[in-house]
This record gives sequence, C-alpha cells and structure tokens, in this order.
Amino acid sequence: MKKIENISFKKEYNKKENIILLLKGKKKSLPTQYLYDDIGSKLFEEICETEEYYLTRTEHKILNSNASDIIKISSAEELFEFGSGSSKKTKTLILSALKKNNHLTYFSFDISSKALTMSHDELSKISENLNVRLLKGDFNSDITRIKTNKKKRLYLFLGSTLGNFNDKVAINFLQNISNLMNKQDSFLLGVDKVKDENIINLAYNDKKGITKKFNENILNVINKEYKLNFNKNNFLHNAIYNSEKSQIEMYLESTVLQSIKLPNNEYLNIKKGEKILTEISRKFSDETLKRLFNKSDLHVAQSYTDTKKYFSLYLLKTKKYL
Ligand code: SAH
Ligand code: TRP
Repeated sequence: MKKIENISFKKEYNKKENIILLLKGKKKSLPTQYLYDDIGSKLFEEICETEEYYLTRTEHKILNSNASDIIKISSAEELFEFGSGSSKKTKTLILSALKKNNHLTYFSFDISSKALTMSHDELSKISENLNVRLLKGDFNSDITRIKTNKKKRLYLFLGSTLGNFNDKVAINFLQNISNLMNKQDSFLLGVDKVKDENIINLAYNDKKGITKKFNENILNVINKEYKLNFNKNNFLHNAIYNSEKSQIEMYLESTVLQSIKLPNNEYLNIKKGEKILTEISRKFSDETLKRLFNKSDLHVAQSYTDTKKYFSLYLLKTKKYL
C-alpha cells in the first residue's frame, strides 16, 4: 500500500450550515462530492463500463490515438491529474511519456481515498522509472496549495468532470489552473460535447441501474456524515437532459411526503414529487468552451476528437506569458 499525502485544508466549520441551506432552499440540492465515497468511486468505475456510457470509451480511444502527439507537443516531464479516479485512461499517456523520459512522476489528485488506491493499483507495476504520488484534496479549494517545480508539467482533467461545475465554478477552476501553470506547462482537458439528446439521456439511465445506485448512494454518505435518516426507498432516480441549459440534471425524486430531521434538529418536509439535485453534467458547444478559455486566460494549442465528434480533448497553454 502506497502512502496517501493529505494536502487538504480542512474547512469543517460551516459544513452543517451549508447542507441545511442546500436542503431548505427552494431548489433542493446536495453537495456533489458526497457521491464519491468508497462505494461511489467503485460504482463510478462500473458506470464507465456500461454500454450506454459512451464518454469513457470515446475519450480512451482519442487518448490512445493521440498520446504520442500530446506528449510531443507538451514535452511533458511530469504528469499531474485532477480527479484522477482509477487513472485507467491515463496509462496510455504515462507509457508515451516514459518513452521520452528516463524517470517520470505522476501525481494523482483526488478527494476519494478509494480512487487514489485504485490509481495506485493500476499504475504501480508499470515501470521502476515511474513514481506515483497520491495527493488527497479538494480541487475547488486546495489547488493553490499545489507545489510546482522546474519540470515541464502536463496537467490533466479528464472524464468531462468540468461539466459537473456550473459556469462560475468552472471559470474559477480553469483560472486556478492557468495561474498554477508555468510558461512551459500544458493542460489537457477532456469534455463531452452537445449531441443528440437521446444518446445523452441513455448514458445517464443505464439499463443495469448502476447510475441509479450511484445516485442513491449519496443518501448513505449524507446519513453517515450528518446522522440523518434519508431512506433511498422513498426516492426515484431521475436523470434528464435540460436542452436549454445543455446539461444532464440528476435528481432524487421523493415518492412520498416525508419529514427529515436536520442537523439543527429542525424538521424538513419534502413533498411527494419534489426533487433534490445531486449532480449536473454539462455538454459543451465550441462557443461555450471558447468563452470559458478566454475568461480563464487559456488558449488552445491543439484539439482532438473522435469520428462522431462526441467528445473532445483540448491541449491548452496559459496566456499569462503572451
Ligand atoms: N478522471 C476519471 C474520474 C472522473 S469521475 C475519469 O475520467 O474516469 C470524477 C473524479 O473526481 C472522481 O474520482 C472523484 O472522486 C473526484 N472528485 C469529485 N469531487 C472532487 C473534489 N471536490 N476534489 C477532488 N476530486 C474530486
Ligand atoms: N463526470 C461524469 C459525467 O459528467 C460524472 C458522472 C457519471 C455523472 N455519471 C453521472 C454525473 C451521472 C451526473 C450523473 O458524466
């Protein structure tokens, strides 16, 4: 077992207030990071293997076809991945980078210990010349705590995890990366694109019901964390594409009138049919991406896609030094 380095700056003080606010709001929601406990991280891996979830397969193909080009353009001497999950897709980039470098350090940064362990298991046997560092932290609050060095770094943010951020959070995240980057660094971003909405809806409603389990699991996590008594049998999995906003919205929909005791001992009534938002997954157009990159001082050095143009990878540089 490899050691996990905790770089997170714990902000425990307003967690309870936060969840109460989210649940009492007119549009109820839950903090999405709770989807990824040990069980959630394993379920996510299973989602990636389902027939309907085209994202992982497509991105993996694009990476396999273009790994050597990406390593060549970026001249990467070090890889640093945010929200790395199991790092399965990243292997192809690591192998390419190992051909060009005698030694390579790969940083796996994730909020989930399970993800970091899976990442270690996936990569530890590749080569003696590969050093895997496991960093536990939150990419929305701990990025500024990341140490840089003189090596040319390739930052990675794959799986369209950017799509799980609203516009403000996405710009803030991209701006943080741009600030972190040295002149010679690069940033590879993987995003899911706008397409036929039937294909999108199917991807988030797999027939094996794994996404449903992934969604429901957030209630177990919240129950443990805040000593609450949500019962998954009183909710339906509801994931639907909002074409106006170009995003999947994943909800837990209450099937009964229910009352939940909150951490401040108040009772929260949830009506039958009322929905709690657990995650969004945005689908990007070229225009939206252009706006996001502009606002965060990034420019596109190269882009890659698949034959159906379902998914895109962007190799970005910071504009700071222009
Ligand atoms: N990159 C992988 C996994 C994507 S799933 C892939 O493409 O398949 C999103 C990943 O981000 C999960 O591993 C999850 O644990 C991690 N994650 C979610 N919220 C996070 C946060 N706030 N900080 C850091 N990692 C987070
Ligand atoms: N980044 C993944 C995505 O947007 C996360 C994810 C997998 C997800 N399954 C989901 C998000 C279901 C919302 C609903 O596809």
